Amino acid sequence: MSGILEQIEPLTQEALQALESAGSLTDLDKARVKYLGVNGQFTALLKQMGSLPKEQRPAAGKQINLSKKKLEGVLISRKEDLELEACLPSEPTDFSLPGREQRLGKLHPLTQVTEDIIRSFRKIGFVVADGPEVEDEYHCFDALNTPADHPARDSQDTFYVKTPDRPLLRTHTSSVQIRVMETQAPPIRIIVPGRVYRRDTADATHNPTFHQIEGLYVDKNVTLGDMKGTVEFVFRELLGKDVKLRFRPHYFSYTEPSLEIDFSSALTRKMGKEWLEIAGCGMVHPKVFGNVGYDPEVWSGWAFGFGIERIAMIRYGISDIRLFYENDLRFLNQF
Ligand code: DAH
Repeated sequence: MSGILEQIEPLTQEALQALESAGSLTDLDKARVKYLGVNGQFTALLKQMGSLPKEQRPAAGKQINLSKKKLEGVLISRKEDLELEACLPSEPTDFSLPGREQRLGKLHPLTQVTEDIIRSFRKIGFVVADGPEVEDEYHCFDALNTPADHPARDSQDTFYVKTPDRPLLRTHTSSVQIRVMETQAPPIRIIVPGRVYRRDTADATHNPTFHQIEGLYVDKNVTLGDMKGTVEFVFRELLGKDVKLRFRPHYFSYTEPSLEIDFSSALTRKMGKEWLEIAGCGMVHPKVFGNVGYDPEVWSGWAFGFGIERIAMIRYGISDIRLFYENDLRFLNQF
């Protein structure tokens, strides 16, 4: 039967058409069985080859196999397309919908605020300094002109370690002022972000550990006016252009005069108050300079310290400090 050779091409076209137009996986499989299956039409053609003259058989066999290969390729790609279609939603996709947000983690709000504070101070020439959290009484108190009978040194306020040299967890970052001045000659312009510890019971505004930023500027002819300008600049960057500052006389043993800084802005009014106390500060006490070997007749300086949690609470309108330490993702995800 010489008709075989002529049948190959039309049969191939017919099979191609059937595979390509199959609208479902079931239809596709039907087409596969019909043309390529064990009892399919191409198998039937191969079986008929025996009736061909011997010299025509190789050419016919080759052509049939080529066609089968081509059809198998089409079968696979059509199958992939149909499988993909089966996974797609039956409703049309609305490409204008917002994408699903990627959550790769983010910085803790206290870290964010600390980094913002550091960034502001860096703009005006301050560098970050660091010191130990387990401190000795000398750096935490004595060198800061804080006498032995001062209440801050009471074990009710302070965590002491039970070893003969009686180290303690630093109660403020002011200890780093001493450490830096002991090892560096003036002028000095540093900020010290860090963790501090006090024997406080946790409530909405207290926690036994919290964070402070200390600032120290030592040079010749330094004035309180420099401090006012510096603190105003940083607080306006952090908490808004409308920030107003007010300085009130206070007492710290390591500064003279000593002041407390209150601040007022739309944020404080939102918290129901015109003024909020935000920092302690003052001109470095001559005795402190004496303790680190700086001549108080030559050098002058100011220092300040404020709580980072306090700033973060005002900035974000948070009313309970404990939220910062609970690691509740519902809270953290808001920043
Ligand atoms: N150390 C003080 C505190 O923990 C804050 C402070 C007040 C720091 C006055 C200073 C300063 O450097 O000059 O409450």
